[in-house]
Amino acid sequence: MNEEKILNILRNTPDEELFAEADAVRSQTCGDEVYIRAIIEFSNYCRCACEYCGLNVKNDELSRYRMTLEQVIKASREAFDENVQTIVLQSGEDAGIKTDEICQMVESIKRIGDIAVTLSCGEYPYEDYRLMRNAGADRYLLKIETVNREIYHKLRPGCRFENRVRCLHDLSELGYQVGSGSLVGLPGQTLEDIADDIMFCVNLDLEMATFSPFIPHPKTPLGDEPGGSWLLGLRVLATARIALPAVHIPVSTALASVSPDDYMSPLNAGANVVMADVTPYEFVKYYDIYPGKAPIGFRKGRDSISRLKKIIESMGRPIGIGRGDALKKKSTDYFL
Ligand code: 5AD
Repeated sequence: MNEEKILNILRNTPDEELFAEADAVRSQTCGDEVYIRAIIEFSNYCRCACEYCGLNVKNDELSRYRMTLEQVIKASREAFDENVQTIVLQSGEDAGIKTDEICQMVESIKRIGDIAVTLSCGEYPYEDYRLMRNAGADRYLLKIETVNREIYHKLRPGCRFENRVRCLHDLSELGYQVGSGSLVGLPGQTLEDIADDIMFCVNLDLEMATFSPFIPHPKTPLGDEPGGSWLLGLRVLATARIALPAVHIPVSTALASVSPDDYMSPLNAGANVVMADVTPYEFVKYYDIYPGKAPIGFRKGRDSISRLKKIIESMGRPIGIGRGDALKKKSTDYFL
């Protein structure tokens, strides 16, 4: 794979052909199992000012919350009781949480049972990532958002692209299963940029990749921008599957939110993972990254899992059993 090939697929392969090819690759490399990951959005505090994100520090109309350790444990236990063996702990970049507290959450969840813990809490120094890994964290999600440096630095004021890349390298070195990916349809972003985003994930030799359509949030500077379309989001997902045959690719919550009635198309176009929002109901509406987020999340924890199970079963696909760890060690071990 190279950028030119990816761009050619994105530009020229007709929808149905692209989706069918991605589905065939997914079936061959990942099998038919669909893994359910339970996500707990444990804090919506954020020190960043990302112009696309509703949690950005400048949005002072948003009520902020931080879940207690007990609340996190309870939500995790409920998901585990539904046989979900991955808990994703996600938050804004919350300066009010100590690394120690994140470690405590990880340790407590690991004591519940055979659960993989995925963290998605933003950029930290190497030492903090090391402590979290030592506490038992298995995976880390950190989207690069866009590899177009100009757009990146414009939309993420005060943040450095190089630091995000440093984080991804540190996480790999520490033995995390690492996920990255980008936003699709950001203002000024071209198809070439998106091909670069996919290539970035290929070069990093990741275990997971997520691509989400950008959904404008009215309380952000990008509120009046058009946003990324569902179809483009689906095409990027499918292209990513062809370029990244053996990584876990979820139906991103944003993609599911753009077309809540069509949860199946992404699973038929390369995705092999779904996210069930098990954040306690009282907090869900405050994790307001973008409008209309996670129709699935509007159900209470267990309901969101059982609803996804029904969708997967109705497609005749098996629900993944076990933790659903990385499909590969290194792509060099793996040939199609
Ligand atoms: N639309 C879609 N996804 C968004 N994210 C943040 N804001 C938006 C938005 N407006 C995504 C970012 C971040 C993840 C947690 O949420 O990619 O990495």
